[in-house]
Amino acid sequence: MKNRITPTTVEHSLTSDSFIVSKTDTTGRITYANRTFMHIAGYSERELLNQQHNILRHPDMPRAVFQLLWDTIKQGQECFAFVKNLAKDGSFYWVFANVTPDYDSNHKICGYFSVRRMPRREAIDAIEPIYKDMLAAEQAAGPRDAIAAGTQVLLSRLQEGNIEYEPLILSLQG
Ligand SMILES: Cc1cc2nc3c(=O)[nH]c(=O)nc-3n(C[C@H](O)[C@H](O)[C@H](O)COP(=O)(O)O)c2cc1C
Repeated sequence: MKNRITPTTVEHSLTSDSFIVSKTDTTGRITYANRTFMHIAGYSERELLNQQHNILRHPDMPRAVFQLLWDTIKQGQECFAFVKNLAKDGSFYWVFANVTPDYDSNHKICGYFSVRRMPRREAIDAIEPIYKDMLAAEQAAGPRDAIAAGTQVLLSRLQEGNIEYEPLILSLQG
């Protein structure tokens, strides 16, 4: 189910002690969501289970961020990212997400696990303009070349700051 929600300018914030938890299968289909997830996203458990995690995808998010996320976790590594999510009522909420692979008894990836917490406001202030530039580059490039164009913007920002992706993200969250 792709959402057809009209985004609004209403922002909801996580509290510092709340954690949004979800699990997915290997394709990103939701297999578990905790109460905090349901509460802030505005969906019932029934509406979330078996849906693709892109049910929360906000149109302000660059595609290259999700490409990086999937490339990283499919290789068996954890990924950290700031993500702007779209709730069912059109409002949005920023999270600092940690996504990790889940392994079966044969050491094969059997799904993914994500824990999100409140991002630092300074981190969002720093990341938002980068995402805006990435999105603009993606839109200018068109669907076929979008991810490459968004990735290029991110890479040049990292090069300018002489820092790699994960150290930047972790330093922003502090
Ligand atoms: C464990 C896990 C958690 C995810 N959490 C989110 C999320 O909170 N918000 C989001 O937009 N995408 C999330 N994704 C990424 C989505 O699967 C999807 O790649 C993204 O929404 C982009 O949608 P698209 O692939 O249809 O363009 C998550 C993926 C995994 C594996």
